[in-house]
Parts: sequence; structure tokens; C-alpha cells
Amino acid sequence: MEVAEEDQVDAHADASATGPLLRLRGITKIYQMGEQELLALDCVDLDIESGEFVAVTGASGSGKSTLMNIVGCLDVPDAGSYQLDGVEVATLDEYELAAIRNRKIGFVFQGFNLLARTTALENVEVPLIYGRRSNRTELAQQALQRVGLGDRLEHRPSELSGGQQQRVAIARAIVTEPSIILADEPTGNLASLQSEEIMQIFQQLNDDGATILMVTHEQDIARHCKRQVAMRDGRIIEDQPITERLRASEMIARMREPLPGSAGRR
Ligand SMILES: Nc1ncnc2c1ncn2[C@@H]1O[C@H](COP(=O)(O)OP(=O)(O)OP(=O)(O)O)[C@@H](O)[C@H]1O
Ligand SMILES: [Mg+2]
Repeated sequence: MEVAEEDQVDAHADASATGPLLRLRGITKIYQMGEQELLALDCVDLDIESGEFVAVTGASGSGKSTLMNIVGCLDVPDAGSYQLDGVEVATLDEYELAAIRNRKIGFVFQGFNLLARTTALENVEVPLIYGRRSNRTELAQQALQRVGLGDRLEHRPSELSGGQQQRVAIARAIVTEPSIILADEPTGNLASLQSEEIMQIFQQLNDDGATILMVTHEQDIARHCKRQVAMRDGRIIEDQPITERLRASEMIARMREPLPGSAGRR
């Protein structure tokens, strides 16, 4: 097929239009513990395309959080190349990393990490304040509506359930429309129904085009994603598409079905 010359020029002008969203090559992280060196990441190669939904699994200490911290520009590798949206970030300074974090990354943590004395709405506005965005309240309100909390805007974290707090954290992660959402054990502190509700939101966001990278140690949670990357001793030992994918909406419907013989009671 013939490609017009100006189209070729366009494609080269914007590296992100051709390469993967995330491109890691030989990413290595060494922690110095006194005399000992601990190899937390050992030459990790990983590509993630826009629109993917990836689970990172592996035993405790295998390097999952270390990898997430580097992908999220919270930390820099000791060796290797990391390109986000076509930009090499492994060598940026703290100031530049903070700017990339604010613009391109949405974080969701196991412990929610909300500001305690602050309402849901204000919590979601925080990244917009750093990003000096206008119409903050409106954007925060829309993000909270997307996670089903349009009626909890003025509630403080202590006035919300764990699952609701995590939904506020997801609203805070998506309000800036990041290139990628990073979630480290987002369901780790939640019971099974609340976990499914969180996975339902992630699946909906992914269906709408969001790219998500999520750490979990639960195989049943990983099966909601589209691809699984398994780690051991700082290396990726397996990288596969998820075949029999679970849909959170179906899991929730099943959990809410009355038990046989309970005459409709729960
Ligand atoms: N700041 C640090 N200083 C020294 N060693 C560290 C540091 N952070 C992590 N490590 C070590 O690096 C290795 C990888 O840690 P990491 O937190 O990435 O594991 P993980 O897979 O997230 O584990 P978990 O499932 O328990 O959260 C571990 O052996 C850990 O002890
Ligand atoms: Mg961890």
C-alpha cells in the first residue's frame, strides 16, 4: 500500500503514535543493604500498549511494587531504558518526574491514601490543583459520578466504607485523564463483594479505553484483566493473555443471588 509522504512525516514526528505506550528494556533496580546488594529488578523487558489491562502477579518480594514505582515515575532504575509515550523517563530529574507523574499517571494504592479531614470532592480535586487546572470542582464531580459516588461528594473518608474510599481513590486517579492507571493491590484491603465492585469499575474504565496495570496476589482478581505478567526474583517469568476472563458484573450478580432454599432472603 502506498503511503503519502506527509503521512510518513507525521508518524515520525510523534513517537507515541507508533511505539507502545510503555516500553521497558533491561530495567534493573538494586537496593544497597549495608554490605549486601539486593537485586529487586533484574533486567526487565516489558511493552504495554494503549488500552491494555494487565495484572502483575508473583510472590511477596518478587519485585512487583518496585516495578510499579518505576513505571509510575516514583523511582528511577539503576540501569535500563524506560519510555513512556515515546519519552525516555529513566534519566529525568525529580522535578521532571513529578510533572510526568501528574500529567500521565493515575495511582491507586492498597490503603486508599486519601486525605483524612477532606471531603471526597476535595480529595479528587487534589491532582487538579497540582496540575493548575481550572473547573476543578466540575471535573472532580464528574469523576466521582463515574465511580458511582455522585451522592457522596461531601463525605469524608471516615464516613465512607472501604470500597467507597477506594472508589474515591479511583476517581482521583482518573480525574486528570492519565495515560495509564497504576494500581498496587487495589483490592487487598477489601472483602470479596467490594473487590468485585472495584474490578467492575476498572473493567468499565478499560472498556472505555483506559490502560490499566494492576498488581494483585489473588488469581481470581487477575482473571478480570486481559493479560497476566508473573514475576519471580525480580524477573518476568510468564507473560500471557488471560483466556477465561471473569466479568465483575456477572460475579456480582451471582454473589447477590439468593442461596438455594433461603426463600429469597439473604
Ligand atoms: N526501599 C527498599 N530498600 C531495600 N530493599 C527493598 C526496598 N524496597 C523493596 N526492597 C526489596 O526488594 C525486593 C522487591 O520488593 P517489592 O516491594 O518490589 O516486592 P513485591 O513483589 O511488591 O512484594 P509484596 O507482594 O510483599 O508487596 C524485596 O526483596 C524487598 O525486600
Ligand atoms: Mg508490593
